[in-house]
Amino acid sequence: MFLRNCWYVAGWSRHFPEDGLVARTILGDPIVLYRKEDGGVVALENRCCHRLAPLSRGRKEGDDLRCMYHGLKFAPSGKCVEIPQQDIIPSTAVVRSYPVVEQDCWVWIWMGDPALADRTLIPQALNHGHPGWFMLTGELAYDANYELINDNLLDLSHLSYVHQNTLGRNSMSWGESRPKTTRIERGLRVERWVVNHPRPNYLALPPGSLSDMWASYDYVVPGVFLLATKSYQPGMAADYGMQAPAAAPDWVSSTSQAVTPISEDKTVYYYSSCLSRKFATEEHSRQQMAVIERAFAEDRAMIEAQQEIIANTPTARMLRLSSDGALNQFRRLMAGLIAAEQPARQDVPMVAHVEQEAADVAA
Ligand code: FES
Ligand SMILES: [Fe+2]
Repeated sequence: MFLRNCWYVAGWSRHFPEDGLVARTILGDPIVLYRKEDGGVVALENRCCHRLAPLSRGRKEGDDLRCMYHGLKFAPSGKCVEIPQQDIIPSTAVVRSYPVVEQDCWVWIWMGDPALADRTLIPQALNHGHPGWFMLTGELAYDANYELINDNLLDLSHLSYVHQNTLGRNSMSWGESRPKTTRIERGLRVERWVVNHPRPNYLALPPGSLSDMWASYDYVVPGVFLLATKSYQPGMAADYGMQAPAAAPDWVSSTSQAVTPISEDKTVYYYSSCLSRKFATEEHSRQQMAVIERAFAEDRAMIEAQQEIIANTPTARMLRLSSDGALNQFRRLMAGLIAAEQPARQDVPMVAHVEQEAADVAA
């Protein structure tokens, strides 16, 4: 099941060139995206209403898109505006059009009722395109259900295990940290001190091999992860009584990530790595991204293997632990929103049902 009435990342802005037609599958829907003359992105159902050919094999004509099977032409609204073989265009000659917003170097698509598309619901990515920050971006395709990826991002204790040789830096500081989770609008905030964490060797400054890190992220519907990490000298966590620090950090980094389901068992994961130019060089930024990408390959290997076991043994139950608090809360939040947007169930007429039962008893 998917949540429909929300914004999903359809790709980075760089994925949508001025002239190309880009095919995507999101929540099982075939979609074609392209840019209009003014640069705005259009998203249409990638299935011509005539003989169901993919419009991504079509031709852009100004702001319109022509199907290159038998020539029907569609406006960005999805309405057919030309049928070469006839003068009358039936009102049913239409393909679905999806609301799109380009923001923070991401192209966001609304997969639900277009009348409910509210751009203020788009989560704000951290430091994307900001001149004061280095930013590198990537994406990863998963053979796994999106909820397993949400779960992974909502329990960062896995950094000490899955990523012991990369982000975990052979330390238990992530694994032993106790995050505080609070509800926010359409999501959760997860905050923690990671105490005495080894500094990455590519960020040599300031001197000293350990740091206390304040890591705080928002995880918002449908699966957007917004993490800011501030690093301090060891002892800072205790100085602040394990509460949020007010002092200026030694260095800061951020990452924004988005989980977009292709289908029930395939997902795309978009991620950025941002480093403040105040504390880092472009080379630091490249080195940080290299570590992050090694780490994300570790996540994928673990999650795809987990998915395989779940698929092969569907009745096996999971054990709940206190460290699952955030991911269980998020699963409940999503389940509630998904349930709320299902059409009301058609109730069986009670009288007929009861009358039939009575007749059966009498017989
Ligand atoms: S399938 Fe598109 S015009 Fe016939
Ligand atoms: Fe991970």
